[in-house]
Amino acid sequence: MDYSQFFSPTSASRKPSAIRQLQKFSSIPGMISLGGGNPNPTTFPFSKMSVTLRGGEVIDISEADVQVALQYSATNGLPNLVQWLRDLQLLEHRPKLQDFDICVGNGSQDVLTKAFEMLAAPGDSVLVEAPAYVGALAFLRPLGVKFVEVEVDESGPVPDKLEQTLQNWPADVKKPKFFYTVPAGGNPTGLTTTLERKHQIYEIAKRHNFIILEDDPYYYLQFNKHRIPSYFSFDSDGRVLRFDSFSKILSAGIRVGWVSGPKALVERIVLHGQASFLHPSGISQAVVSSVLHKWGHAGFLNHVQSVAKFYEGKRDAFIQSADKWLKGVAEWNVPTAGMFVWIKLLGIDDSSSLIQEKAMEKKVVLVPGFEFFANPTKTPYVRAAYSIASESDIDTALMRLGELVREATQHK
Ligand SMILES: Cc1ncc(COP(=O)(O)O)c(C=O)c1O
Repeated sequence: MDYSQFFSPTSASRKPSAIRQLQKFSSIPGMISLGGGNPNPTTFPFSKMSVTLRGGEVIDISEADVQVALQYSATNGLPNLVQWLRDLQLLEHRPKLQDFDICVGNGSQDVLTKAFEMLAAPGDSVLVEAPAYVGALAFLRPLGVKFVEVEVDESGPVPDKLEQTLQNWPADVKKPKFFYTVPAGGNPTGLTTTLERKHQIYEIAKRHNFIILEDDPYYYLQFNKHRIPSYFSFDSDGRVLRFDSFSKILSAGIRVGWVSGPKALVERIVLHGQASFLHPSGISQAVVSSVLHKWGHAGFLNHVQSVAKFYEGKRDAFIQSADKWLKGVAEWNVPTAGMFVWIKLLGIDDSSSLIQEKAMEKKVVLVPGFEFFANPTKTPYVRAAYSIASESDIDTALMRLGELVREATQHK
């Protein structure tokens, strides 16, 4: 595949950092390096690090690993972490294309936005779900792209409409270079794309030659025992970039996420990293890596299963309260992953003022649906999260929302 056709002029003009290129020569036996500008680690005050897990287990990070974590390191991530992640991808996704690369970022948002910059130039058309993750739209909007919204239903993006849009694409306008999608426990919809839909969308991507950006931070929060396979797993062309995150399963504040995909695409993200963040925090990576190596892949998969179970319980409590208070005034889908419910308020054309003003007066915070649409629109939807609030607070909040909709529609 010729990836250069997809690169934005900014990304295409990126060159490797001369100093970073020299680093590989420094490890040749007998080489004396006066080249690098690394600070001398003997002046750093830290020597030991250990982490204590909730169960009381203490993991000591070796002094050698601490020294590596404290120094400048590879832009794509600490080698022992990258290797662990690579093995996880092979084990979990069994990708058709085994020759993929990984780049770790400060959270998945970091590498995701670098991918956006790699592909999108002002005036380019890009495919996004309607509704879509607001954090992605926030980055794409200032790039000056034209959003082409892809309708979603309870099985995922609707293929027929997408195919129709692309078939009727004007001959003198460049076709979209990528489709950005959140396939599991979508933010804001809570919906999960079925495998059948993924295959249908992938076929369209092949026919119309676009890249799929699979942003999947809720992948491990799928409640069914058998997680739905990723686009990354069956990608045979090398047209999928997959974004994973530890934010929902280890810690959000630790800021570790990663991208996996074709070498030529990941390379552009790494080049961006060389010129911006240099590399993700060594300390964060060392902490994550120490826990992951201690657990092994089986231990990690046990951990994520328990996290998914926790959110499934929260989902059940939310749906129970929704059944109690919102029947007749709202409609919603029961999410099978993640932490969001996308609620349609019946008899309301535009949820914005109701949620931004009236809901605040009633002391309930929700996100009005319009925030999640790339192109300005009025929508009756609101996003609710069940991740943090207690069961009794969820119950009270939904009672208040029910009252609010009843009051608003009675006055019509
Ligand atoms: C769909 C989606 N993508 C990306 C992110 C960012 O995740 P991270 O914390 O890994 O940067 C979020 C966070 O909420 C999200 O919901």
